[in-house]
Amino acid sequence: MRFHIAADAAATAEMAADSVEGVIRSNPRASIGLATGATMVGVYRSLVRRCREGPLSFAETTVYLLDEYIGLDADHPQTYRNVITRSFTELVDLRDDAVFAPDCQAPGLDIEARRYDRLVRAADIDIQLLGIGRNGHIAFNEPGTPFDAETTVVSLSEATRRDNARFFDSAEEVPLQAITQGIGTILQAKQILLVAQGSHKSRPIRDALEGPVTTEVPASALQLHGDVSAVFDLEAASRLSTGHPQV
Ligand code: F6R
Repeated sequence: MRFHIAADAAATAEMAADSVEGVIRSNPRASIGLATGATMVGVYRSLVRRCREGPLSFAETTVYLLDEYIGLDADHPQTYRNVITRSFTELVDLRDDAVFAPDCQAPGLDIEARRYDRLVRAADIDIQLLGIGRNGHIAFNEPGTPFDAETTVVSLSEATRRDNARFFDSAEEVPLQAITQGIGTILQAKQILLVAQGSHKSRPIRDALEGPVTTEVPASALQLHGDVSAVFDLEAASRLSTGHPQV
């Protein structure tokens, strides 16, 4: 695992965007795994800017979302597809048919989860962007999820629902379930880019990357992957053992 520790959140976003840009420049047809959430806002903003200023182009790229809430109307502003559309995909030159997400309006959600799992595995993701939850989750894989889990329907933990209430008008509105790529699916990506900012991420980051590999900390599964880059600001990195390069 390669650690990159930057001074602040803005610098982590630029470093993460550098990595994504590097993958696309070496392979314009790359497939990119996208995460949603506050962590990624600056990363997408930077990628949008680079695309508008050129020469970065997503015209041949395909993107795959990690997860999607169940139970929101398709036009709800907080579906992950709508969030990603507003913050990234409609602002760059990606083709409309190059954006993939679990379809939580589908009649059979278990069947849809399996369909999406096959789609993502076949895509052979070149770089997967990941945030981390306060409880160590990746995507919506909550503590206790087996590391070989495939894409599936999951229940969100109360901790995650509380954390995500900031995006909704009320805590009750936060969905109870989601379709999420499984940890096993995520680990298939050729390269994983973990991004975290803020002191509230320092404990899960330390537990995931320097603690034991355990299903109680879903992100500790990343220790089993051969090509992970981790980009943190000083606060998120504050509980890591010293000696990681600061850039
Ligand atoms: C989002 C996702 C989640 C977030 C994590 C961190 O697609 O899968 O695992 O990456 O909850 O969220 P933020 O970035 O809002 O702190």
